[in-house]
This record gives sequence, structure tokens and C-alpha cells, in this order.
Amino acid sequence: MKFEIAPNVHWVGKIDWELRKFHGEEYSTHRGSSYNSYLVRDEKTALIDTVWMPFAGEFVDNLAKEIDLRSIDFVIANHAEMDHSGAMPELMRHIPDKPVYCTANGVKSLKGHYHQDWNFQVVKTGDKLSLGRKELVFIEAPMLHWPDTMMEYLTGDAILFSNDAFGQHIASEHIFNDLVVQSELFEEAVKYYANILTPFSPLVTKKINEVVGLGLPVNAICPSHGVIWRDNPLQIVHKYLEWADGYQEDQITLIYDTMWNGTRRLAEAIAKGIKEKDDKVTVKLCNIARSDINDVVTEIFRSKAILLGSPTINRGILNAMAALIEMVAGLKFRNKRAAAFGCYGWSGESVKILNEALGKAGFEVVHEGLRTMWQPGDDELAQAVQFGREIAVK
Ligand code: FEO
Repeated sequence: MKFEIAPNVHWVGKIDWELRKFHGEEYSTHRGSSYNSYLVRDEKTALIDTVWMPFAGEFVDNLAKEIDLRSIDFVIANHAEMDHSGAMPELMRHIPDKPVYCTANGVKSLKGHYHQDWNFQVVKTGDKLSLGRKELVFIEAPMLHWPDTMMEYLTGDAILFSNDAFGQHIASEHIFNDLVVQSELFEEAVKYYANILTPFSPLVTKKINEVVGLGLPVNAICPSHGVIWRDNPLQIVHKYLEWADGYQEDQITLIYDTMWNGTRRLAEAIAKGIKEKDDKVTVKLCNIARSDINDVVTEIFRSKAILLGSPTINRGILNAMAALIEMVAGLKFRNKRAAAFGCYGWSGESVKILNEALGKAGFEVVHEGLRTMWQPGDDELAQAVQFGREIAVK
């Protein structure tokens, strides 16, 4: 399967309709994904990225039907993570002497993964590779999202090959942004940003401003997952600038775990109190033990404030909440407020633990929290409603 992006620029990747977990079990991919590889033909031919290892044989077989592999002059490895480099050993078995263009960190990482001494050619920002009439101009993009990451811009066709940036985990028969359901596209794009790029937001802003500052025309942005942005391609660049800048919507999300429904009942009463004070704010409740953690992270990303709830068990918090806290700490959210709540039977440490974890994770903790004993009765539920009112005000 191939798609034409421009005359002599083709997508030659793999659509993975079955993928439901990515990064091991770390990232849910409800809509599958794709591993985008691009073939650019001019007087010389460049192949940009490959696909994940399970599809290596299929990828190379298909590529060999499209082009004599020996006529590939340059292999471009934008990023060594195995969803993009996984087919390189199989490809390079056929063309072992062809140059592999990557960053200095790319060499380290590719050698670390595959223990092969390919003909590496290290590139830096501004380096150019002539294909004949057109050139590939390299742009290092460290920490977007690995230290080895780079992109390149194809002159003439004005195409930016952006690797993971601007990607989305979507499998689709349609490879272009204007052909897919827009709400699904942006749901996946924001989930991708929230779960993968949030910690690097300051670098996202810096890199985008650097590239936009070059004033180059951009006809298409070709990421390494999901659809290609050809219709108003800069719309996703503007979205990234928005998302990188302490993004929040008018939303408060209550995320809780519960043993015997006491903390759930508190959550519902708190939500009632919030809505009493502010009927315009969007309030969402998620039982973290019964929700997809990446979808919950996306809700946190959208929120101006979150409330975390857990009962106390063994002087700690429930494990689904502990996993969320661990993930959220790594994502380094900014510009978000938070507080904690929970009921308890005996020792009651959960609210203190949650508040401390929220503070360490960079949230502004705006309330000492709501901590009630035993199953909430009328008095405790009234306290929870009042707590919700106070949170809405703060
Ligand atoms: Fe799509 Fe960082 O790999």
C-alpha cells in the first residue's frame, strides 16, 4: 500500500489496525495506529524512517515491489525508537553500505538497539542533503520526544517530516487530515500531546518558534503516526503552541478510587457543590480503577483543576490512584490547581499523601482537603458539597 503526498513523495508505511497498547502497556491506542515511512524520489532517493519490527518483513517486501532497494541512496532515521527503526535491520540487510542519516544521539541509540555498525552520517540543524533538484534540510529536535529526535524539510514540495511531533495514534484508510472525522482526529492528537509531549512543552514552544521563524512555506506536515496534515497544515502547529502554554479548559475533573463507595459518594457530592457555585464549568468524574489511565491523563490535561480522591488502606492510597500519581508526576503539568479528598475507617492518611503528591507534581494545592470518617452520612455529604463550593470559588 502506498499513498501519494506529492509527485515522487509517497507514504510507504504500515497501518496497524490491531494495536491497542503502545509503549508496552503504557499507552492505550483505541483507534490503532500507523508507522509512517516516506519515500522521496528525485535524482537521488531517500527513505525516511521505517516501521515497527513485527512488520519488518512485510514492509521491506512491499518496498521492494515499489522500488529496487539498491536504488535507495539515503536512509533517514529521524528517531531510534523501535516503532520507527524496527525494520532497519531487515532493510539494511539488503543495502548494508547505504548511508544512514541521523543525529549524534541517533547513532548512539541505533547502535544501542541493534548493535550494527551501519554507515552512519551524523547531521545537525541546518545541514542539507541534496536529492538533485530538491534538498532535505535537517532540524534537530532533541527531547521532542527523545534526545535523538530530528525532522527534515523537503524544499520544492515544502513538506516537513516531523517524526513523532504532530502525530496521532489512528489507523485509517485515509491518510490525510481532511478525510477523517475531525473530532476523532483532534481527540487522538490531544491525547498524544497530553500523554507524550506534555513534559517537553517549553521545548515544543522553542522549537516551533525556531522553525516558524524561518518563514518557510509548508504544504504538508508528515508525522510518523496517523494522518498527514495537508489541509491547513499549520493548524496543528498552532494547536501545539496552545497546548504547550499551560493549556486548560473550563473543566474540573474529579478522579477517585473507592473501596466501599464512600469516596465515590463524596466525589458526587463535591461535584454537586461545584455546580451550585458555577453552573458553566464542565465537571467530570472518573473512577481511576475503571477508566483508561491515558484517557484520564487527557482529561487532566484539559482541566483547570483536578480533585483526587482515595480512601486509606494500609496507611496509604489505593493502587490505581498510586499509578496515576506516578504517571502525572512524570508529565509535569503546569497551570493547574488541585486538592484531595477521601474517607477512611482507621488511620486516614490518604488525603495528606495525595496533597503532598500533587504539590510535588507541580499542581497548586488550593485546599487542605476533605477527609471524612466511615461511610459518609448526611453531615459528611453536606461537608462534601461545601468543599465543592469552596473549590469552585478557588
Ligand atoms: Fe513513535 Fe517515539 O516513537
